[in-house]
Amino acid sequence: MAKLPRVIVKWAQTLDGRAAAADGSSQWITGPAARADVHRRRADAAAILVGTGTLLADDPSLTARTPEGELLVPAAEQPVPVVVGSRAIPSGARVLAHPALGERFPEPIRLSGNDLAADLASLGTLGIESVFVEGGPHIVSSLLRAGLVDELLVYIAPALLGGPRLAVGDLGIASMTGIHRLEFTHTEQLGPDLLIIASSAQKEIR
Ligand SMILES: NC(=O)c1ccc[n+]([C@@H]2O[C@H](COP(=O)([O-])OP(=O)(O)OC[C@H]3O[C@@H](n4cnc5c(N)ncnc54)[C@H](OP(=O)(O)O)[C@@H]3O)[C@@H](O)[C@H]2O)c1
Repeated sequence: MAKLPRVIVKWAQTLDGRAAAADGSSQWITGPAARADVHRRRADAAAILVGTGTLLADDPSLTARTPEGELLVPAAEQPVPVVVGSRAIPSGARVLAHPALGERFPEPIRLSGNDLAADLASLGTLGIESVFVEGGPHIVSSLLRAGLVDELLVYIAPALLGGPRLAVGDLGIASMTGIHRLEFTHTEQLGPDLLIIASSAQKEIR
């Protein structure tokens, strides 16, 4: 199997661990400083990945941009968009106009999600060495459950939403003996929000 890319998972959550409101809206949980930080970190990744749930709910551009909407890095250096899942990308989706698409990648890379380790390996064979995962909670939970995550970037807003839309779902952990421990490697205040970076000591498939 090809070398797996480094997997960086990012999410924004409220203080009570919610990634969206009950109606599915999630823009914007965090403020401008946190969002600018996300864009800078996107620019460092070779690929940017979302599930079809997020693609259909949010219609994200998946580009690294300045707060004014300009590209943060040239088109050729933008992370290549990757969409996981079986549902079709709507014809007007913003991601279809992604600046990284061209001769090498005419369309967003599609992955089935049936075997995430194999999916990531297929990105590895394309020469993609790092993947910035932008959600949503189902894909993030599946990656965590499979032990495929290297680093978590969790942006925390001082806000509460309550309700059912948790940032992370079932990880298949029934008891404390199965707890997935991490190490905090960085904490930072970004305007009113916090960024916590945690590294996973449990990347199992390698
Ligand atoms: N706060 C944040 O940082 C943040 C970030 C992103 C999204 N969101 C919010 O989260 C919501 C969407 O997230 P979501 O969790 O519903 O969708 P998601 O994780 O983006 O996508 C889930 C879909 O991916 C496909 N899939 C394929 N393989 C999978 C696998 N192994 N594991 C999980 N899913 C797989 C399935 O769709 P198919 O049927 O097409 O195969 C599944 O329904 C929206 O409300 C959005 O606004 C919040």
